[in-house]
Amino acid sequence: MNQYLQEAEYAADDVVISMRNVSKQYSKEAPAVTHADFTVREGEFVFITGETGSGKSTLMKMIVHELTPSAGQINVLGYDLNHIRHGKIPKFRRNLGIVFQDFRLLKDRNVYENVAFAQRIIQVPGAQIQKNVLNALDMVGMADKYRRQVTQLSGGEQQRVALARALVNKPLILLADEPTGNLDAETAWGVMQLIDRVNRDYGMTVVVVTHDRGIVERMNKRVITMKQGEIISDTADSAGEDFYPDDTMPLDYQDVDADWNDDYEQ
Ligand SMILES: Nc1ncnc2c1ncn2[C@@H]1O[C@H](COP(=O)(O)OP(=O)(O)OP(=O)(O)O)[C@@H](O)[C@H]1O
Ligand SMILES: [Mg+2]
Repeated sequence: MNQYLQEAEYAADDVVISMRNVSKQYSKEAPAVTHADFTVREGEFVFITGETGSGKSTLMKMIVHELTPSAGQINVLGYDLNHIRHGKIPKFRRNLGIVFQDFRLLKDRNVYENVAFAQRIIQVPGAQIQKNVLNALDMVGMADKYRRQVTQLSGGEQQRVALARALVNKPLILLADEPTGNLDAETAWGVMQLIDRVNRDYGMTVVVVTHDRGIVERMNKRVITMKQGEIISDTADSAGEDFYPDDTMPLDYQDVDADWNDDYEQ
């Protein structure tokens, strides 16, 4: 790619994630990620796929600043993650909704408390928490089970609660590492449809790691494929300017806020 164009692309206002020549080496063995170079724009839905050990989770952990790269630059939502000050990390993470394969719910609390916990961490005023939590649970179809202990839920239900918890703080980016890895095909498809809906309805940027080729093929989104630490293909590179179907164009976040539940300062 022409160097000038490449610079322009990285500098574009609507780029929410950019990796430039990023590598991660855990030890003297082969690097887990090598020369990763891509951008994600506001409102995009991106799958990251590839065989086991290809570096997908390592890439995701660098995006959320759980890991720092051995080389290269990462910028997420305007934060230069190579130079972010320790004290700024919580504020940075508030913009991210994270979903894990194994749900990671608090097993000694009920559905409501699991989602409310995310709001308490960012000190949302108590009066707003109830409305926000019930809204988020409603989005994932779990509002009627808000008092249930999470240990009494099916895997698919638990993942929907985890999704509500990731969404309740209205993140700008939803990052999910194998969110359907522990679910049967039908339940997995339901969870993926919910993720697709938040992307379409709220313009939320979504990055999903999955092994599941069936889901990737059925969803028809941008796909970044990794192999032995390298990005070996990215459908955005070949799709050109017309990649986005009209109905997946990013929404203006002002409209999104108005549509969603109560506003509050984060
Ligand atoms: N904490 C770690 N210390 C050392 N090596 C690691 C560590 N985490 C991952 N690796 C290695 O880095 C490589 C990439 O791992 P990563 O977890 O990113 O792969 P993945 O694509 O997410 O795989 P999977 O599909 O199995 O989750 C693998 O070779 C793995 O063994
Ligand atoms: Mg992984």
